Amino acid sequence: MPSNPYTPGQVPRILAGRAVEMRRIEGLLARVATYGELGGPLLLFHAPRGIGKTSLLRAGQRRAVESGFVTAWVACSRQQPVLPEIAHAIGRALDRADAVPSGAAGSSWRGQLERLTVEVGIPGAKVQAQVGRKEATAPPQAAIGILESLLHDASSLVRQHGGAGLLLLLDELHTASADEMSVLLNTLQNLDGERTENPLATVAAGLPVTPEALTRAATFGERSTFVSLDVLSDDDARAALVGPAEAEGVGWSDAALTAIVAESRGYPYLIQLLGSTTWDAAAPASGSRLTLAAVKRGLPVARDQLAAMHRARWGAATRLEQRFLAAMAAAGEGNVTRAAIAAGMGVDSRAISVPRERLIDKGVIEPVGHGLVRFTLPGFGAFVRGLDDA
Ligand SMILES: Nc1ncnc2c1ncn2[C@@H]1O[C@H](COP(=O)(O)OP(=O)(O)OP(=O)(O)O)[C@@H](O)[C@H]1O
Ligand SMILES: [Mg+2]
Repeated sequence: MPSNPYTPGQVPRILAGRAVEMRRIEGLLARVATYGELGGPLLLFHAPRGIGKTSLLRAGQRRAVESGFVTAWVACSRQQPVLPEIAHAIGRALDRADAVPSGAAGSSWRGQLERLTVEVGIPGAKVQAQVGRKEATAPPQAAIGILESLLHDASSLVRQHGGAGLLLLLDELHTASADEMSVLLNTLQNLDGERTENPLATVAAGLPVTPEALTRAATFGERSTFVSLDVLSDDDARAALVGPAEAEGVGWSDAALTAIVAESRGYPYLIQLLGSTTWDAAAPASGSRLTLAAVKRGLPVARDQLAAMHRARWGAATRLEQRFLAAMAAAGEGNVTRAAIAAGMGVDSRAISVPRERLIDKGVIEPVGHGLVRFTLPGFGAFVRGLDDA
């Protein structure tokens, strides 16, 4: 019996669509690999939760490894200062790099690696001390200097030992503090001044607030490349369903695909969830086909899972945020105006800025221009309307 190939909440086996975005990453990699120089400014992908930021970054990482890069992955979080994490991730990446030759050449590499790893540990601490001191006006120069030499040393080391260069991947960048963003942007700016010395590319992902946060953190933050990720097109949604099953010798009926594409509205997490619940409902043998009947049998399981996610988001909201969400849900599906939410809460529209910002920060709602917002998770509005205490 083939095993379930769908991956709700995990990196997909097949990354559907995203050809344009992958070309962006490949463009940076090609520049580093071909000219041994900096791949360009920070490339940031931004999107609400569940749209596929991490999946795209992981695919970029795989591509980089195939092209001979050493890659360092940092999952930024509010719990951990980001800059030391970058230092540690680079240390680990160099350590793991299997570009290390055996014999004498290998031991000299090891020696350099160890020296660098030791240095990495200490600058990490220094960087943090600097950042912690909060000199809001001037960016912490020492921290920038340390990160700069760390990235320079690490990327040239990779290159000297026959690698294409270093790829630094920063997921959840919106959780970095303004100071940390400022150090990062200033560092990349300085490295750009000596681009030919720095065979490095930096690719990041974050919630839709990230471009604004970066632009606030450094005046030239807007020189970064911001690319928003959208839901998958119908064709790509179908490919996301067909590909993984095909690899297990299992097909899909057209009606089943059409039903999931409609139900998921192209939201990648839902595509994986519905693919998975359909698969479990059918328990298909190799050579068989997944049908509309199996989709329908799987739906209640998917809805339960989605309801659990809705409950978790609701539970993580403060009382004020919950009132905001309730007013927003009551105003209807789709894009909701600030005025409608304020009216629903019975307050002035200026009074809703704080819960609005916090909910955007948490990825529960997203701005869609002209002051309009919408829910990021399908069905969340209906869930909120169904609550007794909302
Ligand atoms: N291009 C894609 N093709 C197929 N499945 C995808 C694609 N992108 C994402 N997915 C699936 O969608 C779900 C969410 O993906 P991912 O975790 O990458 O999103 P995210 O934007 O990083 O979310 P979060 O903000 O919560 O971290 C996962 O189950 C993943 O398997
Ligand atoms: Mg993610």
